[in-house]
Formats: sequence, structure tokens, C-alpha cells
Amino acid sequence: MNDSSPPLTGRAALVTGATRGIGRAAALALGEAGAQVIAVGRTQGALEELDDAILSLGGERATLVPMDLTDGDGIDQLGLAIFQRHAKLDILVHAAGMLGGLRPVAHIPPTVWDRILATNLTCVFRLIRSLEPLLRASDAGRAIFLTSAAAAHPRAFWGSYAATKAALEALVRCWADEVETAPIRAVLLDPGAMRTKMRAEAYPGEDRDRLADPVEIGPMIVELVQARDLGPPSRAVRFSDWRSARCAGAPERP
Ligand SMILES: NC(=O)c1ccc[n+]([C@@H]2O[C@H](COP(=O)([O-])OP(=O)(O)OC[C@H]3O[C@@H](n4cnc5c(N)ncnc54)[C@H](OP(=O)(O)O)[C@@H]3O)[C@@H](O)[C@H]2O)c1
Repeated sequence: MNDSSPPLTGRAALVTGATRGIGRAAALALGEAGAQVIAVGRTQGALEELDDAILSLGGERATLVPMDLTDGDGIDQLGLAIFQRHAKLDILVHAAGMLGGLRPVAHIPPTVWDRILATNLTCVFRLIRSLEPLLRASDAGRAIFLTSAAAAHPRAFWGSYAATKAALEALVRCWADEVETAPIRAVLLDPGAMRTKMRAEAYPGEDRDRLADPVEIGPMIVELVQARDLGPPSRAVRFSDWRSARCAGAPERP
């Protein structure tokens, strides 16, 4: 790496949920910043389109991993493949998730409950279990987990989603405490309202032009993974706070 190299040159970055929305924005920004992106999602065509987009931004060709993250053994195999290719993992951005519909707790179909727990919570445990040794092998492992205000502010009809995000936060805080002496830092990131498929599922009637474009969160993620002093994730960092701090003095979004 020389002085003119992009800042994340030589860094291996695993991004889940990379096929659309916030995960795709993270993969694009990390790829443009020089990271070797390992992109996970179930939609092969969207992964290929992401790879083309990263190349067009001057990044390296991504490693595409079409898989369902509820497959815990598949996550173990992914960890092994990353070890064989990179021998370390510098960056994890875990953006994959599902809303699972909004309904009263008593009306949640057990199959939906099982699916959302597997997708939003068990998957996080399996990722940490498989990837912690690889993050430890980095001189500055960074793990960003997308969470939601619903974790701290549960309300009617959001039961399954809110419960999984609250549990994700608890799990990540416990893990961060365990790896505190390693050069690993974990971050809980609350993106706020972003113009994505999940948001449209939650708020089908709203004016989407008023929502932040997920592309806007890319620079924040690149900044977070380079930050030296992140501190423990005692609370989630919020995209809206970051944007306010960066855009102080800029005109308000109409
Ligand atoms: N958008 C918001 O306003 C908002 C607000 C608060 C928090 N968040 C959080 O931010 C994160 C990203 O949300 P988003 O709005 O970008 O959602 P999104 O547009 O619905 O994208 C979700 C991503 O997760 C992947 N995914 C879902 N289930 C998967 C599975 N079983 N295996 C592998 N990949 C799976 C999807 O890819 P495939 O379908 O291709 O597999 C897709 O790439 C989520 O954790 C969400 O809870 C979002």
C-alpha cells in the first residue's frame, strides 16, 4: 500500500444483506474505499450487479456468497473459506435482517417467529462464533451490527422484530465485553428511517422521498471502521447524529 492507495486497501470486509438497502450501500462504500468485499445475500443477480457497481467505482472484484444466513453450518463454511483466502477478517458489517410483518404478539404465526429469530438473532450468534477468530487475527477488527430504535422503544405490533433487535444488542454488548482486550471493536448502528424495502414493508403509505437514501450511510460506515477509539457499544450510534454533526450548517432536508 502506498500513500495514494484507498484507505481500506488490504482490508477484508464481510457484508451481509449486501443485495439491497443498507448492506448494499455499505458494500459499495467499503469497496470504493479499497476493501476486498465479501458480499452475502440470497439473490445471486443482485450480488453480481453489486460486484459490477464496485468495479465501476474503482474497487476490487468482490467475492460473492449467495447463501441463506439461517444456515449455521453454511456460516461455518464461510468462516473457513475466509480463513483460507485471507487468514483474517478486518471488517464485518451485518446488515441482513427481516421485519417479519407487524401484528399483535398473540397473532404471530409460530413459523414466522422461528424464522425471524433465526434470521435476526441466531444468525448473529453463528456469525460471531465463526468469525471471532478471524477478527482476532486482524490488527484492528471492526464489527458493525445494524440495530433499530425498536430495540429500546418497543411498541404495539412490533413484538417479534423489537424482541430480536433488543436481544441482538444484548448479545453484541456481552461479546464486546469478552473481546475488550483484543484489537476488536463492536458497534451497534441505528440507521434511522431509510428508503429501503424493509422500511416500505413497515410503512407502506409514507412519502419515501422524505427518507434518507441508504447510500448516505456508506461514508459513516467507512469512517467507523477506521476509527481508533470506538469505546464499548453501551448504546447504539445513530446515523442521524452522525449526519447532523457532519452537516452542521448545511440546509435541512426539505
Ligand atoms: N431501513 C430502515 O429504515 C431501517 C431502520 C432501522 C434498522 N434497520 C436495519 O438495517 C438492516 C438493513 O435493513 P434494510 O432496510 O436495508 O433491509 P432490506 O432492504 O430489506 O434488506 C435486507 C437484506 O437482508 C438480506 N437478508 C434477509 N434475510 C436473509 C437471509 N435469511 N439470509 C441472507 N440474507 C438475508 C436481504 O438479501 P436477500 O433477500 O437477497 O437474501 C437484503 O440484502 C436491518 O438489520 C434492519 O433491521 C433498517
